[in-house]
Amino acid sequence: MSRRRARAADAPTPRPIPPRVLVLHGPNLNLLGTRDPLIYGTTTLAEIDAELARRASDRGAALESFQSNHEGALVDAIQGARGRVDVIVINPGAYTHTSIAIRDALEGVALPAVEVHLSNLHAREEFRRESLVAARCVGQISGFGAQSYYLGLDAALAIVERRRAERT
Ligand code: DQA
Repeated sequence: MSRRRARAADAPTPRPIPPRVLVLHGPNLNLLGTRDPLIYGTTTLAEIDAELARRASDRGAALESFQSNHEGALVDAIQGARGRVDVIVINPGAYTHTSIAIRDALEGVALPAVEVHLSNLHAREEFRRESLVAARCVGQISGFGAQSYYLGLDAALAIVERRRAERT
């Protein structure tokens, strides 16, 4: 075997690039744990983020979470994700129903996104039934409490896997 071929055979198989996930939480989600527990459950945001980080790490993914009560800060986070992140999981909170800016940001960065909600939007007040961001997301998961985020992470990782497979 030539020296060059021997070296190629010895070369370690390249590690797969970890999928990078950004989780965004909108206004009032920092109050989880004590906010309307009958609707949102008793799990705190810190517990949700820790569980998401644990699940991501088990799957070889890199995950960062960010919460803001400010629309512009969420828009900045979405814009800042371009080129740095493969997929976004977003619970826009009340901005779901009002924010053209968040919708436009998702469209602008052209990153795949999964919309998640703890509560079932369709079983609540009429004004919660409309999501302005839904059409800019691959899909929506709503009504499973904290589990909505974990299902959202599964969906997000499946999207990255599928896109990578399509590119090879
Ligand atoms: C929510 C639903 C929204 O209507 C509400 O304004 C929230 C939380 C949810 O996760 O169920 O803040 O996004």
